[in-house]
Amino acid sequence: MSNSDEILEEPTPVASVRPGLPRPGRPRWIYHPALIPRRGNRFEGRGLGAAWLRLTTLFYGPSSDNLVKVGRKFRTKGLVITVAGAGNRVEIGDDVSFSGRIEVRGFGLTVKIGDRCDAKRTRIIAADAGVGIGDDCLIAAGVHIRTSDMHVIVDRAGGERVNPPRAVVVGTGVWIAGEAALLKGAGVPDGCVVGFRSVVTQVFDETDCVLAGVPARVARRGIAWTR
Ligand SMILES: CC(C)(COP(=O)(O)OP(=O)(O)OC[C@H]1O[C@@H](n2cnc3c(N)ncnc32)[C@H](O)[C@@H]1OP(=O)(O)O)[C@@H](O)C(=O)NCCC(=O)NCCS
Repeated sequence: MSNSDEILEEPTPVASVRPGLPRPGRPRWIYHPALIPRRGNRFEGRGLGAAWLRLTTLFYGPSSDNLVKVGRKFRTKGLVITVAGAGNRVEIGDDVSFSGRIEVRGFGLTVKIGDRCDAKRTRIIAADAGVGIGDDCLIAAGVHIRTSDMHVIVDRAGGERVNPPRAVVVGTGVWIAGEAALLKGAGVPDGCVVGFRSVVTQVFDETDCVLAGVPARVARRGIAWTR
């Protein structure tokens, strides 16, 4: 997968709740980059779409040194980005159309969306692990991508966490059909199609397949799809 190395190699903090991070849904205060550029939180991007996104990007206190960067010709019918933590990066490529919500919680995470991607009513939650989406992807309405279950499940006997956060990586030229979900550790290779309402829970390694079902399995091989 094209951008998997960068996303997978980043450090993944084990703790799901760090001191100083707001609990989900309970931000203490918000820095708005257009109004209060503070604590090294930055927004970069030019053009009308980027200007609109700047207004709907929020850094939750006491977040610091986060960057949201948008490429050329960005278009949206409404995208809200929220970032809680420090040293995180949200990078959106050139010629991207994206509507929905991107939430980042953690430290040193990267959420990267490649060039020429289209996504509508898509929700990305990158908590304690990053998300990488390659170039030329089509993400249909209602798709849900998340890297953490948010709540810890432990094995009672051993005491260790059984559901740690893991990065989600999507290759280039992937079509994710309506209302599908990519959960922690999901990997979708180049050229694949994820079926309607399918749930991807593992890394697949074969390109150009239809992945479908709950949990998703290879349903067809050797396919190509049109936009
Ligand atoms: C993924 C998709 C495009 C595949 O279509 P297809 O190639 O014609 O595949 P088929 O319907 O012949 O199904 C192939 C196999 O996968 C299974 N399958 C297909 N989609 C599935 C799904 N969403 N969930 C579970 N199984 C599914 C079929 O049951 C079939 O299994 P079988 O071989 O055991 O009989 C289609 O199933 C789909 O999800 N369409 C929705 C598209 C969409 O959301 N469009 C919005 C615009 S972006």
